[in-house]
Amino acid sequence: MTVKVEPFKIKVVEPIKLISKNERLKKMEEARYNIFRLKGEDVYIDLLTDSGTSAMSDHQWAGIMEGDESYAGSKSFFNLERVIKKITGFEYVVPTHQGRPAENILFSQLIKPGDVVPGNAHFDSTQAHIIHKGGKAVNLLLDEAYDPKTYHPFKGNVNIEQLENLIKSQRDNIPFFLMTVTNNTIGGQPVSMENLRRTRKLLSGFGIPLYIDAARFAENAYFIKLREPGYGEKEVKDIVREMFSYADGCIMSAKKDGLVNIGGFIALNDKKLYEQCCELLILLEGFITYGGMAGRDLEALARGLEEVIEEDYLAYRIDQVNYLGKKLDDAGIPIVQPPGGHGIYIDAKSVFPRIPQSQFPAYTLVVEMYIEAGVRAAEIGSVAFAKKDEITGKTDYPRLELTRLAVPRRVYTYRHMDFVAEGVIHVAKKKDKVKGFKIAYEPKTLRHFLADFARVE
Ligand code: F0G
Repeated sequence: MTVKVEPFKIKVVEPIKLISKNERLKKMEEARYNIFRLKGEDVYIDLLTDSGTSAMSDHQWAGIMEGDESYAGSKSFFNLERVIKKITGFEYVVPTHQGRPAENILFSQLIKPGDVVPGNAHFDSTQAHIIHKGGKAVNLLLDEAYDPKTYHPFKGNVNIEQLENLIKSQRDNIPFFLMTVTNNTIGGQPVSMENLRRTRKLLSGFGIPLYIDAARFAENAYFIKLREPGYGEKEVKDIVREMFSYADGCIMSAKKDGLVNIGGFIALNDKKLYEQCCELLILLEGFITYGGMAGRDLEALARGLEEVIEEDYLAYRIDQVNYLGKKLDDAGIPIVQPPGGHGIYIDAKSVFPRIPQSQFPAYTLVVEMYIEAGVRAAEIGSVAFAKKDEITGKTDYPRLELTRLAVPRRVYTYRHMDFVAEGVIHVAKKKDKVKGFKIAYEPKTLRHFLADFARVE
């Protein structure tokens, strides 16, 4: 059989409704063209994020009933701890309610003002936490990562040569290196085992620790199985274990590959660092056996982490995203190649060649997709990342202008993907008529969440 199907049956459904195009136009105007202001019920297919949007299994829901709500010593925490230790090989587990507090707590211990934290591609909240501690975040990707058309099996790899140069010039200011698997800002692209191994070797020579941002660790491991010589016959759980073996610890937003709606953790080998993190955890999140999560959430996460490394799940997951990518590619829509693990990233500069970056082509595509098809996507371009120099007034634009279609895990079917692709294709056909946007109001930080937009006349 060649037809791929979802490896589950559906036991509960949540109805969705496509409101009329006129209503969608009205909702957009009322939201002052900010897609974060739209109500979920007015969105037909929601590809805003793959974070906290997974559908849980019957086994996880059963775990919700069995969750132990003890303030201290919850059985569900010990289940979670056991699973994380087994999957990652790390000794100590600090639970947090999502990825950001894990970043905040770990970075508070490791970063001092003036430090430089290199990584392959820091996520925006990660970068913000590095800056918040007085550090500077540096991304060191391959040149291929910035060219959407070029095929490279591991576009998430760190540029080892650049890393070596940075270490040589800044050794005393580098507290650790952070490897994000898969990278989120440039296409959901994986990091190869060879790159992890080489990075570890280089860092060890200088005594610099390596941490992994493990939000999408299972998807990364599956790409290694599919694409890296020598790994095709290995089990995903062994690939995962090897990935973590090159690191001193990890932080995880479990809202992605944890297959849960809320959760996160830090996992470490260093006992002293673990104890320091526990002290801050109590101050910021809660006691060390719940860390801001309910007992039921701990239980669901323990079960989700085991399900996410099941190979039939991962084969379906990666195939479904790839299916959407192929539909778009076949229709001539320019996407980041190859398709990523958690979503398809559209090269919006190529979709709307007449809209300059100052008028936000990737954001324009987001708005048009909602109006055309009721599909909500996210912008990873100039709205989120352009920086204005306060002194010269000149704006520095990001190299890529991407519209991300993030696919929630186990939520939508292949048929939903057909609908999404059709919506994008319709919008692209109107490319000569579509006008860009300007910002009517913006807050000081993370402007994409709270800005008001207006059409350029
Ligand atoms: N690291 C990565 C790689 C992420 O993608 C995210 C979140 C975080 C850390 C922060 O985790 O949201 O649990 O605090 N990414 C979401 C997204 C928000 O839409 O890509 P969090």
